[in-house]
Amino acid sequence: MSFEHIDSWKNRAVFVQQLERNILELNGVYPDHWKALLACLALVGCKPDENFTFADMGCGVAAVGELLHRYYPKMHYHGYDYAKEAIDIAKEQWGDYWSTKGKLDRLYSHASYKDFDDEDMGTFDILHQAGLCCILPNGDECFDHLLSLQVPIVISQKMNLIDGESHYDVYDHYDIKIYEYHHNRQGIYDMIEKHGYTMDKNISSPVGTTLLLKKNV
Ligand SMILES: C[S@@+](CC[C@H](N)C(=O)[O-])C[C@H]1O[C@@H](n2cnc3c(N)ncnc32)[C@H](O)[C@@H]1O
Repeated sequence: MSFEHIDSWKNRAVFVQQLERNILELNGVYPDHWKALLACLALVGCKPDENFTFADMGCGVAAVGELLHRYYPKMHYHGYDYAKEAIDIAKEQWGDYWSTKGKLDRLYSHASYKDFDDEDMGTFDILHQAGLCCILPNGDECFDHLLSLQVPIVISQKMNLIDGESHYDVYDHYDIKIYEYHHNRQGIYDMIEKHGYTMDKNISSPVGTTLLLKKNV
């Protein structure tokens, strides 16, 4: 397995472009995976006046935090990304803006998904990833690790599920070389069962699959 391009996302220019695109999306038509995320939150019964906790792993510039605060102003959004460049832009963009709107809970941290264990995640109601597993050369391992954190609800988005073997490709995106991971579908279903989750919803779209997973009680 090649990890040659593993740090290519740590690049400010990439996140400047991501933010520009996200602002257009926030002010225009939402992309399919944002619509799917809102549908999942409604399905699990999140209410606008509830102060649930939401961890966004590989949050990029944290546009999802802004999206969700529109509908769930009392939620506690915590964005994590291994790229300090992403976290810096998220703080510059949303920090003051959210505080002026009374959205005080906007914690961002510069951290890799691998830095967390189930104790760190113990206070979260929902764990979210969009586009993290699919940009790693070891996307299956990442998904397995996220489920091992045992957060009661997991929403995993932009997943490329295939019937063949799991594998990655390398391609150019935002002027950097990145990985694109394809998960063997059955392997993903087996991991879901192994970690004690049930798949509540599976939403397919051109940007990949959204899985809504609930921890078995
Ligand atoms: C395709 S972007 C998705 C960003 C955001 N979730 C979205 O949907 O717009 C992938 C993100 O994963 C982050 N990332 C890559 N490796 C990571 C790791 N080991 N731990 C945490 N974040 C990581 C990158 O910095 C980047 O922000």
